[in-house]
Amino acid sequence: MSTRLTFLGHATFEIETAGKRLLLDPFLDDNPQAKIRAADVQPDVVLLTHGHFDHVGDCVAIAKRTGALVVANADICTWLERHGVENTHAMNIGGAHRFDFGTVKMTLAHHSSMLPDGAYGGNPSGFLLTLEDGVVYFAGDTGLFSDMTLIGEAGIDVAVLPIGDNFTMGPDDALQAVKLLQPGRVVPNHYNTWPPIEVDVQAWTEQVRAETAAEPIVTLPGESVTL
Ligand code: NI
Ligand code: MN
Repeated sequence: MSTRLTFLGHATFEIETAGKRLLLDPFLDDNPQAKIRAADVQPDVVLLTHGHFDHVGDCVAIAKRTGALVVANADICTWLERHGVENTHAMNIGGAHRFDFGTVKMTLAHHSSMLPDGAYGGNPSGFLLTLEDGVVYFAGDTGLFSDMTLIGEAGIDVAVLPIGDNFTMGPDDALQAVKLLQPGRVVPNHYNTWPPIEVDVQAWTEQVRAETAAEPIVTLPGESVTL
């Protein structure tokens, strides 16, 4: 079976690959875009890009219920352990680790990362995932940075980029990010969840088509991209 990436709303994605289910930045119960609840997911692995509520939201509950391995930066892993999550794998920026489902590299993100209770969440990150059917890059919440050129050298099949502006890159900088990363396809996220991050996604996809070789794919919650 090929690798499948499913958008669950805002910045939450599920990946099915190598017989495993990965859940990225689980934020479902309080997510205005989500069609499913935290109780509905059954991940083997949870990956967290940073500590903000719209990314870690349901992680503790899901990890405790399922026993899923949580991959996050070392500071968030310490916090998770204090909240009763025992199965964690700590990483930090620039490091890669080979798991049974593929290789995870933790990448730079320009953002912040305080946890919902005010605890220190370390540095925010993105993830470069080398999976059996291709390479997926999750930028995480970030501004534009020129080192995206280096990340793109991995040969990205699908890039997941924030476009909502205000807290992350907006449409113009996300377009520039596509030019630096040169992915085959690009999936926008982190937009239209709340008023401060409302953007015209159709206008953005037209610009991506006109100015880059990447194929933009707008996914509604529940829709998938197959690698
Ligand atoms: Ni954030
Ligand atoms: Mn966010």
